[in-house]
Amino acid sequence: MKEKTAKNVHAAFVGEAKAYQRLLEYAAKADKEDLPQIAHLFRAVAASESVHARRHFRLLEAVKDTQSNMEYAFQQENAVNGNHYPRMLQDAEEEGEKAAAIVFSQAKDVEGIHAKLYRKALEHLTEAEFTEYYICEVCGYVSEKIIPDKCPVCNAPKEKFFIVE
Ligand SMILES: [Fe+2]
Ligand SMILES: [Fe+2]
Repeated sequence: MKEKTAKNVHAAFVGEAKAYQRLLEYAAKADKEDLPQIAHLFRAVAASESVHARRHFRLLEAVKDTQSNMEYAFQQENAVNGNHYPRMLQDAEEEGEKAAAIVFSQAKDVEGIHAKLYRKALEHLTEAEFTEYYICEVCGYVSEKIIPDKCPVCNAPKEKFFIVE
């Protein structure tokens, strides 16, 4: 792909991916304000933005075979765990931004767990057994097989965990 177009496709992917998440937050807010049809509309547009985001992503030819995708995903997790989040955490601490510091610190820990999950799965790529995963809706912690009594990263109670479909 030519340079300007490649840059635009990437920018479009990032923009659509951001819009998807933003609209889901708007939908949750509309639900809280007892406006279910508006929430539904936000979710419909979010689903449409997601179609765009994934279409742009495919255009970038960034999806390889699964082994390569897992290796790339593993590297990304290590980069955010070991480099990006620690830097952001330090800035937040220096600026006294306590809420952001907590969120960055917990996200950093969870990214490290993502890396471990990928590493383990890479070792058993073809003979991987089916495993249930449960996600903490507060911090994103991923638990294998069981719902812990308390989230080990953020202390959320077990009611905060949802199963991955
Ligand atoms: Fe991650
Ligand atoms: Fe958590």
